Amino acid sequence: MNILVLGSGAREHSICWAVKRSKKCKSLYCIPGNAGISEIAICKKIDLEKKNNLNKFCKDKNIDLVIIGPEKYLENGLSDYLRSNDINVFGPSKKASRLESSKSFAKRFLKKNYINTAKYKEFKSYAIAMKYVSSAKYPIVIKADGLASGKGVIICNKKKQAEETLDLIFKQKKFGSAGNKIIIEEYLNGFEVSYFAFFDKNGYAKLGYALDHKRAYDNDIGPNTGGMGAFCPSKLLTRKIEKEIEEKILIPTFKGLKKEKFIYRGILFFGLMITDSGPFVIEYNVRFGDPECQVLLRNLQTDFLKIIELNLKDKLRNLRIRNDKKSVICVVLASKGYPGNFKKDKVLNNLSKAKCIKDVEIFHAGTLLRNNKIVSSGGRVLSITAKADSISLARKLAYKVLSIIAWKEGFYRKDIGQKNL
Ligand SMILES: Nc1ncnc2c1ncn2[C@@H]1O[C@H](COP(=O)(O)OP(=O)(O)O)[C@@H](O)[C@H]1O
Ligand SMILES: [Mg+2]
Repeated sequence: MNILVLGSGAREHSICWAVKRSKKCKSLYCIPGNAGISEIAICKKIDLEKKNNLNKFCKDKNIDLVIIGPEKYLENGLSDYLRSNDINVFGPSKKASRLESSKSFAKRFLKKNYINTAKYKEFKSYAIAMKYVSSAKYPIVIKADGLASGKGVIICNKKKQAEETLDLIFKQKKFGSAGNKIIIEEYLNGFEVSYFAFFDKNGYAKLGYALDHKRAYDNDIGPNTGGMGAFCPSKLLTRKIEKEIEEKILIPTFKGLKKEKFIYRGILFFGLMITDSGPFVIEYNVRFGDPECQVLLRNLQTDFLKIIELNLKDKLRNLRIRNDKKSVICVVLASKGYPGNFKKDKVLNNLSKAKCIKDVEIFHAGTLLRNNKIVSSGGRVLSITAKADSISLARKLAYKVLSIIAWKEGFYRKDIGQKNL
């Protein structure tokens, strides 16, 4: 098969890596890709806003399958467009993507299908929301309805903070039109798990889970980021909880998708809070998570392209995905200053030496080639993923590689995977 992957993060690098390992892969392209991806795929720069350019590229290169990484392309309806041009796409329709692109849409879906989620209210009016927060029980969680690159959720411990947040969203338009509507929900206590399963018209196949680290600094302090690291498995997630996730969340979600007649062919990511009263859905994402994807794909035994082929034929139901019983950890190396302002174009030395360490894969995110040197071009720069017999061994490996890379322009968390020890 000739495969095209869309995106430029470490998530897409790990997707390319998994595709490349499949015997079914003949040639691999990536738009736009990065310095790491260009070592295993042919990277092209094509403006994806101009959909017909992409269609032409797919026809020229005889692309058999397009794998869409980031949610923005799904929200833009790229999967529908490609499907209508007879191109196979891994990724849900625009309509189904609303499960991620509108929080109120997702909440209504959850409620309709009796799936546990935090109690909530929707608001379009600043005045009515202000009245509500004046007598709410704190903490509360305020969320912009639309996509806000992981920045649209604010946990408010006090009334003053809630009022300031409402001002920011409704008056200062901090999130633009994504904040025209908001939801306010109750705060859930527990630990978070990212759970993944492939879904199609007739069923689903479970991939697995990973635990993410969203805050910038050790011990979960500092601002929220796209994700500073992930690991799996975790002792926290018992068989009993996994069974509950399947019965109370996966099955009713599948039935709900069917009822809505959504075209869902792709991965569905459940952002869960495991509370004392069981698992609750915080949100749906209609694509792989980053850095969870890097962790999960490293443990995947079943041929990735075989899964996608079955997914596109609506035959997932009979598939049991097999994973290695190993521990994997991913530590993100980011530019100093991320998620705020950071410098670009800083040279990364020592990568070829670091790459030689066994059982470690270095997936690139914000990197590019300049004068034969790899330089940084984004906030998150590398995903160091190590695989071993235990989380503590995997941790040692990942941090050893980071000490070899020794990038003075960057930082990383030292405590990834520690909550599992
Ligand atoms: N009801 C809630 N209770 C506690 N924490 C929450 C709640 N909703 C969201 N959060 C926290 O905020 C983070 C971001 O919320 P989420 O709905 O996943 O938005 P997004 O990923 O789109 O920014 C979650 O990962 C979680 O840590
Ligand atoms: Mg989230």
